Order: sequence, then structure tokens, then C-alpha cells
Amino acid sequence: MSNPDVVLITGAGGFLASLVARALLEDTKSPNIQLILTDVIEPKNPLKPDASKSADVSTIKADLTDPEQINGLFNTPFGIPDTVYCMHGIMSQGSELNFDLGLKVNADSVRDLIQASRRYGQQSGRRITFVFTSSCAVYGGPLPHIITPDTIAAPEGAYGLAKLSSELYINEFSRRGLIDGRILRLPTIVVRPGPPAAAASSFFSGIIREPLKGVEATCPVGTDINSPELNLPIWLSSPQTVVRNLIHAKHIPSSAFPKHTRVVCAPGFTVTIRDEIDALRQVGGEEAVKLIKFENDPTAKRLVDSWPQRFDNTYALSLGFTVDEGSMIPIVESFKKDVDAGIA
Ligand SMILES: NC(=O)c1ccc[n+]([C@@H]2O[C@H](COP(=O)([O-])OP(=O)(O)OC[C@H]3O[C@@H](n4cnc5c(N)ncnc54)[C@H](O)[C@@H]3O)[C@@H](O)[C@H]2O)c1
Repeated sequence: MSNPDVVLITGAGGFLASLVARALLEDTKSPNIQLILTDVIEPKNPLKPDASKSADVSTIKADLTDPEQINGLFNTPFGIPDTVYCMHGIMSQGSELNFDLGLKVNADSVRDLIQASRRYGQQSGRRITFVFTSSCAVYGGPLPHIITPDTIAAPEGAYGLAKLSSELYINEFSRRGLIDGRILRLPTIVVRPGPPAAAASSFFSGIIREPLKGVEATCPVGTDINSPELNLPIWLSSPQTVVRNLIHAKHIPSSAFPKHTRVVCAPGFTVTIRDEIDALRQVGGEEAVKLIKFENDPTAKRLVDSWPQRFDNTYALSLGFTVDEGSMIPIVESFKKDVDAGIA
């Protein structure tokens, strides 16, 4: 058998990275894989209790704001990783509330991880593939009706600043051949399972997730079910599609990217908050909709209104990334299945 494909995933105790870890273990294009999963909280081994294969996964608790702990991730018995998924971070609201921590984790530690990938890649004689989860929060200021690859990113917040600065490092390090970067600016992911995240967009998932579990949810936009504010458009993707696209990012040949940028806006689609509620009604019934309580918060409305609402998916689709089909209803149906199966 060929040498194992060693993949390091940071933020592996979190929502998305834990799904990426599971998907990589099932990826037919990566049949011989070893995973190093790391997080500041102890990450779970997705293979447990299947003890026969769990030797292919190593879980490491590490704080990536400490460069020594980053070094440790490149010195495990699995050897130097071939691919790094850089997915740890402090989410948007968290990094607004604690500006210094947000910069330390979302910018400084990412830069240290890029530098370590450069050093260890040079040591192993292979350029490390570096997949980075960026965000639409890199955009700010007046935006065109539809965002294209030519739209200038000028963030207005700590989270967007840190993401954009990391993107610039990855682009330049890739251009110089020091790493092989792939940057996905992710849409908001709906429906996110588990407790509400420290993200201002958290209610987009909450107004579906909580009612389907029979629990009240707060919608901070609008005063009631007929409010015109519910017509605000939002840019979304399902978790399944984002994960599939993150796995695809690993397999794209570097020659597919232009010289100056590794940035791709991951495909998504536009819905309104009202479309979300209509999908909830169709899947969960009027009883579920009644569990949404409206607590109009002008700041939430201003924030949602300032986010990019429509993107041109053409470039991403040309690289082989995929988009959800059928808008909100299949997404809500899929989440309800998980709720009914007790796994959401
Ligand atoms: N979920 C979304 O809608 C969305 C949208 C755009 C971009 N993203 C990006 O995708 C990635 C994953 O997002 P998520 O929603 O799974 O987030 P998450 O909050 O569930 O996971 C992030 C993980 O990073 C870990 N972490 C924080 N500080 C750390 C440190 N100092 N050292 C090591 N680990 C640390 C946390 O413990 C957490 O488990 C992030 O980079 C995020 O910015 C997510």
C-alpha cells in the first residue's frame, strides 16, 4: 500500500471540523488516511468505539496560540502532515466581544500554523496542502448587488479582518511555492446542530433547530410573523454541502488556481428569513412556527442587512465545487430526520 495520507485538522472539537474528519475517513479519493485531530478542548475520535481502525486517528489537546504546541502537531508518530485543515477559531460575535483574543486566535495562531506548514513542508520535501475556512465577513462597506471574484473585500469587524489577513498570507505563501493553499469563504451554515454559537448569524439555525426539537427560539429580526424585516435575504449553505466542498478543496490540482489568489467563495444560495420560516412550517407544521418568539433588536437587523446577500457561483462551480439543490425544504427535512433519529 502507498504511504498514508496524513491530514492535520485544527478546531476538530468544533462543529464543522468534526464533520470534515468523519467525511475524510469515508472519502474514496483518500483511501489510506491518518488523521491528527486537535483542539483546545479534547477532540473526539470519530472512529471510537471501532477500535480496529482507531489507530488511524490521533487526538491532541493543544492551544494553538502557543507556537510550541503547534510544533508538536508536526512531530507526532504519524509524521509530517501532507494536508492541514486550518479550522480553529473564535467566531464573529466572540471576536467582537474580545478583540485581542479574536486577533490572537484568528490571525496570530493561523499565521504561526502557516509558517510551521512552510517549515515542515520544506523539511519533508513536499509542499503541504493548506485548506483554510474563511468567511463572507471579509466583505464590508457598500457592496454590489451580486458579489463576484472581483469584488474588493474590506472587512468592518475583528473576525473579517483576521480572516482576510490570513487569506493574504496563504495567497503569498502559495505564490512563492511555500505551501499549497486553498481558501474557502463559507456562507452561513444552516442548520447547525447543538447549542447556539457565538456568531451573530446563530439565529438563522436557531429558528429551525429549536422549534423542531419542541423548544422556543428567539428571532432578533422583526416584531411578529408578518414583519417586513423577515424579507431580509441571507446567503446560506447546508452543512453537508460545505463539508463536501471542503473535501473537494483538498483534491483540486494547484494548477487550477490563478497565480494571485487561492480564494474561492464556496457556493451558496439566497433565501429570506421568511423563506426559512415557511420551510419550517412545511416540515414541522404551524406548531413549530409558533415556537419562534420575536424580540426585535435593531443591531441584529443592521448586521444582517450589512452582510453580503448574493454571490455569483460561476467560478466555484467551474472548479468542481457544488451547491445545494432545492433551497430550504430539503435542508430542514434532513435536519428533522436527524432530530427524529436523536443525533441532532
Ligand atoms: N459555521 C459557519 O457558519 C461558518 C461560516 C463561515 C466560516 N466558518 C469557519 O469555519 C471554521 C469552523 O467553524 P465552526 O462553526 O465549526 O466553529 P466552532 O466554534 O464549532 O469550532 C471552532 C473550534 O476552534 C477551537 N479553538 C478556539 N480557540 C482555539 C485555540 N486557541 N487553539 C485550538 N483550538 C481553538 C474551539 O475550541 C472550537 O472547537 C472556523 O474557522 C469558522 O471561522 C464557519
